[in-house]
Amino acid sequence: MFLLTVTFLAMLLAITNGAVLPLGLESPQDGRIVGGIASSIEDRPWQVSLQRSGAHFCGGSIISNNIIVTAAHCLDSPTTVSNLRIRAGSNKRTYGGVLIQAAAMKAHEGYNSETKVNDIGVVRLQTKLTFGSTIKAIAMASVTPAHGSAASISGWGKTSYTGGSSSGTLLYADTRIVGRTQCASSTYGYGSFVRATMICAAAANKDACQGDSGGPLVSGGQLVGVVSWGRECALANYPGVFANVAELRDWVLQAQKTV
Ligand code: ARG
Repeated sequence: MFLLTVTFLAMLLAITNGAVLPLGLESPQDGRIVGGIASSIEDRPWQVSLQRSGAHFCGGSIISNNIIVTAAHCLDSPTTVSNLRIRAGSNKRTYGGVLIQAAAMKAHEGYNSETKVNDIGVVRLQTKLTFGSTIKAIAMASVTPAHGSAASISGWGKTSYTGGSSSGTLLYADTRIVGRTQCASSTYGYGSFVRATMICAAAANKDACQGDSGGPLVSGGQLVGVVSWGRECALANYPGVFANVAELRDWVLQAQKTV
């Protein structure tokens, strides 16, 4: 009877999670980014949610008390300065922490929506953040992390590409950096779609997904990437692709002064 109940619960979980894995392999863990684990905001105090007309749509990272780094594609229409707010200091998408109105935003001038090169942008906040255990800035990497380095992704995005919904609680997953050369090689399926200004990260059944865009890829305690694009989510031959912060850092440093 106990076993039957457990099996039944496992089936229920598998269904509610979108049944990506065969029933027997479905883990009873709470949620994912894809393959993720719930995070407290104290462990990722630089993570913010970008909200448009009151709803989460992208992630971002705090780099100073009034500047957020995100993806350029998150700032595309229909995002405007007036409909954009940032939630900081909460691991919940819909409540907690502080919700601050954007004052200005700027996408990289070289951003190309077809190729996704230079997929980075900054948002200036109307009110300065007060730093504490749940709200802190993260330093931007100035050196591209090596292939194979440990790196984590986080966000409130979808927990599976098909059928998954956006997570109410911040999730993270541990991945490894896939260097640009390796990511564009025949080991994976992207080939020349992986360009300069991009870096990849992957782990079996773990990835960023829709709604995680703009959010952080962190390695060695530094911001090394910004969630940009991927073929579906967590496909074996298609790593997540990120804007490479080390390559785009100079642009960000300039943009945060002029935005
Ligand atoms: N472009 C997506 C977004 O707007 C993020 C896609 C990331 N995909 C991936 N497989 N890593 O949220």
